[in-house]
Amino acid sequence: MKKVLVTGALGQIGSELTLKMREIYGSDNIIATDIRRTDSDVVHSGPFEILDVTDEKGMFNIAKKHEVDTIIHLAALLSATAEKKPLLAWHLNMGGLVNALETARELHCQFFTPSSIGAFGPSTPKNGTPQDVIQRPTTMYGVNKVSGELLCDYYYHKFGVDTRGLRFPGLISYVTLPGGGTTDYAVEIFHEAIKNKRYTSYLAKGTFMDMMYMPDALYAIIALMEADASKLKHRNSFNVSAMSFEPEQIAAEIQKHIPQFIMDYKVDPVRQAIADSWPNTIDSTCAKEEWGFKTDFDLEKMTEDMLFKLRSNPLLVTA
Ligand code: SER
Repeated sequence: MKKVLVTGALGQIGSELTLKMREIYGSDNIIATDIRRTDSDVVHSGPFEILDVTDEKGMFNIAKKHEVDTIIHLAALLSATAEKKPLLAWHLNMGGLVNALETARELHCQFFTPSSIGAFGPSTPKNGTPQDVIQRPTTMYGVNKVSGELLCDYYYHKFGVDTRGLRFPGLISYVTLPGGGTTDYAVEIFHEAIKNKRYTSYLAKGTFMDMMYMPDALYAIIALMEADASKLKHRNSFNVSAMSFEPEQIAAEIQKHIPQFIMDYKVDPVRQAIADSWPNTIDSTCAKEEWGFKTDFDLEKMTEDMLFKLRSNPLLVTA
């Protein structure tokens, strides 16, 4: 990775990954793109271009102009929004991906795009979900993610594009809010705990899902992209998880720091059905063995850091 194009650079992963990579690889070498411009650091701390990922020519031209050797394709709709707007999700998630893969093929770029725990479905074993297992998701997001994994493997085998991916769990971060995901509650709960000392969970008690704190996710992307290709038996995509919890457990952890915090429930049937179709815990053994995946943050450490970071940057707490 010497010169990198990032799509969706103002999103939840992109806004932190872009800055992290600018630190490591040099500001001028990370070309951030998004469909909109904001006054974020991402826009001001290095090259930034407006890009709609469904515009194949536009993507190719930006990649060629900056002579990138790597594409990190992040622009996508998350699960709950995709379920509300399935055709838009297909158009954006699959159209954007195939454009990014074509650009990578034509310009001989290394390629990364995230998959998700959403690539699994109700017929997948729910606990300790292995790397190689039945994947029959019942959501549009999941259909996009499995198709994306297959398409990335196809580009590797057919055209020799060095495609790599991670099946991310819910990502928790204090910098940029996720939008339209099923796991978003695990971020919102911190903001509400600080502001109002209460949170109404849209997922029911006992709904376990895998999660990861953003610093571990950024490390995982960079470590996978830097990994020796000869060690990779898998490519698209690796199971990675740092923790699994249900709403009661994260609430209890927050109560250790904010004793008055209370949580109640108002279940959203759409997001509950999505969460119920996903695993409780996935097994990251292949990622550990093939490229040394590791994490630093468990639920306790992540909660402490989230609360500390949000309290010390009140502007980051959503109004
Ligand atoms: N965080 C994502 C979502 O909830 C899962 O990949 O949609």
